[in-house]
Amino acid sequence: MAMFEFIIVESKGPVGVITLNRPKMLNALSFGVFREIAAAVDDLEADDKIGCILITGSEKAFAAGADIKEMQPKGFIDMFNSDFTAIGGDRVARCRKPTIAAVAGYALGGGCELAMMCDIIIAADTAKFGQPEITLGTIPGIGGTQRLTRAIGKSKAMDLCLTGRMMDAAEAERSGLVSRIVPADKLLEEALAAAEKIASMSRPAAAMAKEAINRAFETPLAEGMNVERNLFHSTFALEDRSEGMAAFIEKRKPVNKNR
Ligand code: CAA
Repeated sequence: MAMFEFIIVESKGPVGVITLNRPKMLNALSFGVFREIAAAVDDLEADDKIGCILITGSEKAFAAGADIKEMQPKGFIDMFNSDFTAIGGDRVARCRKPTIAAVAGYALGGGCELAMMCDIIIAADTAKFGQPEITLGTIPGIGGTQRLTRAIGKSKAMDLCLTGRMMDAAEAERSGLVSRIVPADKLLEEALAAAEKIASMSRPAAAMAKEAINRAFETPLAEGMNVERNLFHSTFALEDRSEGMAAFIEKRKPVNKNR
């Protein structure tokens, strides 16, 4: 595994864990951090042993947003040419393996957007989500007006993006942004357990389920149903599918082999 400056990458059994590691800056997401996240996702996605990727931060902050100190002097052409969105964000969202964000503390601006690029957000009871870009005279740039609106609806997305206020874990769960809340001291344990469970499933079936759900955001219902049906039919070509059904009938655990 490559060495990184701003993140720590470990494999814990079948789970690849990316820990943001700029604690003094509350894990502010500089270009360098995004580049490293993208490289880590490349590595983990290419690694057959890894079945699920977990992204996490520190107790105080998942990430307090894009790096304001780095961005402050930049002009339009710097940001336009750098293609900030494409660097890290797109790579996480494009990952075919399932991804989980385990969020404690602040997930603000780009931090909230990074969490939303993951398939599942598990929140510690200390988590705080927000899109405070408006307070800096800018707007979200890597999904905060798009993924957030799809996740929690127009009124709440407007509320967060226009007032810049934060929402706590309970409100985030009520709104459908996070899948579950766990006590802060159990966050990693619970997120790892979920990731291990996902990694134990048929890998191609998990990738297909993910692909089908993501299509729900991009297509009309009839088109999405078509994609789902085709993928469902494809699972009948998998050894894992015949094994999974045989194991059910024989009242034993399936042994998933497809990679
Ligand atoms: N970028 C750069 N540095 C940051 C940062 C950020 N997003 N967030 C925090 N830091 C730095 C602080 O400047 C501070 O550094 P110094 O010790 O050198 O002063 C250090 O991290 C600790 O932060 P605070 O002292 O502010 O900690 P706090 O507990 O008092 O407050 C906070 C915590 C409420 C999260 C506050 O730090 C904050 O408001 N951060 C900025 C949040 C924000 O506006 N995020 C949006 C960024 S823009 C964006 O993300 C655009 C996009 O969509 C791509």
